Amino acid sequence: MTRTPPKSFHIKSFGCQMNAYDGARMAELLETQGLAAADRAEAADLVVLNTCHIREKAAEKVYSDIGRLKRADGSRPMIAVAGCVAQAEGEEITRRAKSVDIVVGPQAYHNLPALVAEATRGGRALDTDMPVVSKFESLPRRRAQGPSAFLTVQEGCDKFCTYCVVPYTRGAEVSRPWRAVMDEARALADAGACEISLLGQNVNAWRGEDEAGRPQGLDGLIRAIDRIPGVRRIRYTTSHPNDMTDGLIAAHAEVAGLMPFLHLPVQAGSDRILKAMNRSHTTASYLRVIERVRAARPDIAISGDFIVGFPGETEADFAATLALVAEIGHAQAFSFKYSPRPGTPAATMADQVPAEVMHARLLRLQALIAAQAHAFNRASEGLVMPVLLERNGKKPGQRLGKSPYLQSVLVDSELPIGSLVDVAIVAGGPNSLQGIVHARAAA
Ligand code: 5AD
Ligand code: SF4
Repeated sequence: MTRTPPKSFHIKSFGCQMNAYDGARMAELLETQGLAAADRAEAADLVVLNTCHIREKAAEKVYSDIGRLKRADGSRPMIAVAGCVAQAEGEEITRRAKSVDIVVGPQAYHNLPALVAEATRGGRALDTDMPVVSKFESLPRRRAQGPSAFLTVQEGCDKFCTYCVVPYTRGAEVSRPWRAVMDEARALADAGACEISLLGQNVNAWRGEDEAGRPQGLDGLIRAIDRIPGVRRIRYTTSHPNDMTDGLIAAHAEVAGLMPFLHLPVQAGSDRILKAMNRSHTTASYLRVIERVRAARPDIAISGDFIVGFPGETEADFAATLALVAEIGHAQAFSFKYSPRPGTPAATMADQVPAEVMHARLLRLQALIAAQAHAFNRASEGLVMPVLLERNGKKPGQRLGKSPYLQSVLVDSELPIGSLVDVAIVAGGPNSLQGIVHARAAA
């Protein structure tokens, strides 16, 4: 049965920042096809669920969301499942959820217009290819959607941590060419973005050659982007400890626009568990990296990811994680209960940790991390720091911005979004700062 071609779309992205980036690019693509963005799923002819497969809870969410897309009159929009669940589960999705029209993987979404056309003709469209020719080449030019923009420079992972689906859902490590990244960065700056966050599953494994054919790493790319007129701030995420090169560490000391913030997951504090995770670093080698980064940039804010309850994790292993967290001192960190993922080596390992033990450990770890984050925020009281105003606060006359250390900062101000202003921090709460805008704008 043919259907009317969709005129409007709504994209719901879950999970990581790369999914947010992919969601923005899909929106740009659909807009160039003449579809209008709708701000609610109920108002859209086409709904794209841009899914995450990293943990079971995230992956299951898509099925409850699909069920909720039915409208009051019993009709439903055209439904596309994109992202990592689409890649991992493929046709299984259309078997489990009959109302899904399109399944499109994270390396194939440039084909969305053709898939929509196929679904319009009444077919079910599936594309989970991982083409060698980059999808990026077939996507339209970037349009910035605010002062802070994401830019994917690297995708995929060759590291195969034993718990992780990423090498299967996003494929092998691929670096986008220098030229493509620079063009996109310039397009974003032209469109008004003054902060660019470089994204990659292993962003610091980015490798390429510059215009002169010289080999470059992420630090070279950062230095070049820092010279683009209009770019005031650069961030990058997520990094692997083994790819923190001397050049990248030096960039933290030398590149003014590179923000003093490093998200560097260590995952656990026990070398025995790190080995079982196939992390290929130890707690000692991780701490050495942190020490070198801090020597280059003493005020750098450290963030990380932790998994509790990996198979075989004993109370002593977990205590080692707490001890490592205590030693590092985080500005913020994410922590998760281990979630067995189909097809990964850890899913079939012996000694899976009981759910209640995992839960209790997670609470202890999160309490420690929350205390560190609060202490970090309190230590900002009395400082004056440049803040990029990114959006309106809840109340009129309020703006929400970001400090160099990625803290959320609330100020009473009518200054336009996108202003970079000096703010005196008056209070550091558990999750955010409050400040007063200085008369003088930040240089
Ligand atoms: N279970 C729990 N957490 C996981 N992560 C990745 N895979 C799993 C899993 N199977 C976490 C890691 C990673 C972050 C993005 O998600 O900490 O750094
Ligand atoms: Fe997953 Fe490990 Fe690769 Fe990170 S480095 S994406 S945790 S396999």
